[in-house]
Amino acid sequence: MSDVTSGLPADFFWGVATSAYQIEGAWDEDGRTLSIWDTFSRRPGAVVNGETGDVACDHYHRMPADVAMIAGLGVDKYRFSVSWPRIQPGGRGPVNAKGVDFYSRLVDELLEKGVDPWLTLYHWDLPQELEDAGGWPHRDTAYRFAEFAGLVHDALGDRVPTWTTLNEPWCSAVLGYDTGRHAPGRTNFAEAVRATHHLLLGHGLAAQDLRSRGVASLGITLNMGTHSAASDAPGDVDAARRADGFGTRIYMDPLVHGRYPEDVLADVAARGAEIPVRAGDLEVISTPLDVFGVNYYTSHVHRATEDPAVSEVVPQGRPVTAMGWEIVPEGFTSLLVRLHEDYGVPMVITENGAAFDDLDVEDGHVADTDRVDYLKSHIAAVATAVRAGADVRGYLAWSLMDNFEWGYGYGKRFGIVHVDYETQQRTPKRSARWFRDLITRSRG
Ligand code: FCB
Repeated sequence: MSDVTSGLPADFFWGVATSAYQIEGAWDEDGRTLSIWDTFSRRPGAVVNGETGDVACDHYHRMPADVAMIAGLGVDKYRFSVSWPRIQPGGRGPVNAKGVDFYSRLVDELLEKGVDPWLTLYHWDLPQELEDAGGWPHRDTAYRFAEFAGLVHDALGDRVPTWTTLNEPWCSAVLGYDTGRHAPGRTNFAEAVRATHHLLLGHGLAAQDLRSRGVASLGITLNMGTHSAASDAPGDVDAARRADGFGTRIYMDPLVHGRYPEDVLADVAARGAEIPVRAGDLEVISTPLDVFGVNYYTSHVHRATEDPAVSEVVPQGRPVTAMGWEIVPEGFTSLLVRLHEDYGVPMVITENGAAFDDLDVEDGHVADTDRVDYLKSHIAAVATAVRAGADVRGYLAWSLMDNFEWGYGYGKRFGIVHVDYETQQRTPKRSARWFRDLITRSRG
């Protein structure tokens, strides 16, 4: 074992991750209907350069070659998401056979090449018709999601061992309904709060159903980081508490303990909003899970502003990625140890990685040493957390390949494989080779 991975258990697993809208393209083919990202990306100013996922990495047409590339990395697992409007056009009614067939072939290709499929049911591409009917602030969307989960399981449950309900509900709720930076682009705090609860309820209803069908491994993925105070001043300490409450505890507490934290309920009420809990919801939401997916990119230091509802992130002068996100590997260790101590749950890193302004492909090489350094320091941070007792079972790098980075379009490259969007040529970067070698070495 190399130093980077020392202390990781012998059965620790490795993988790469993507999501449907970010790589598939084929936005209007084979019966797929619109998702909120198709609509939002067409709104002027929503995405840098007006870019959309219409073509993306054209993965829909290049899937077998992409699976061969994944297998070539030597990974154990591939985490992908299914497009809801491809499988169930409009978000209601029967499945679209052609949509199901694409994922069925993907799963078969993976299994044939010895890579375990890891399926995420929802990575942000809500069918537009469900948004038009009220979206996540509307309770019925939770029931539609659970129904969708069952349909996907009917089709793929015989071959997919690992099921994640939602990817990063914080982004769906807050970026989608409060700041408006993501689809559907609404800006209403109270709606974001309602969306948060209905996302959790949808997760719980789907989890109950999948549990009853006996799936081998069931979980949810949350984006988290550490939230500390810029100073001991009470306002700053409170700003950090609020950020942690609304970023981490509003999810983890109901999922694990079956209740919303009192201070978060008070914060929400102070801003004129309310979590629309009905009798029985929290029992559903706290359906036991096998794994908590942790997506980690950075950590934050907060200070108070004059508006008690709004805090400010204070840059710490550390090196940043192309996203402007500070590089804080120690925060990753602290987060994992804290999740272990406060919640005692088994965890898998379902995303970690970085965008850098990569050099161009030269003689078939991309010398992304900054990404290698990022991955190395963050995998080492996971190993440190494991040595401190955290139960972390695997690490999936974000991302397999450069792709549509939401509001930033194609300008931000997170891949360990470079994509030339003119030719769709894939070129493994130095980080891909480094990752493959690390996996080989870690297996001894
Ligand atoms: C996460 C998303 C993923 C990707 C990375 C950079 O929040 O889950 O799709 O955009 O950030």
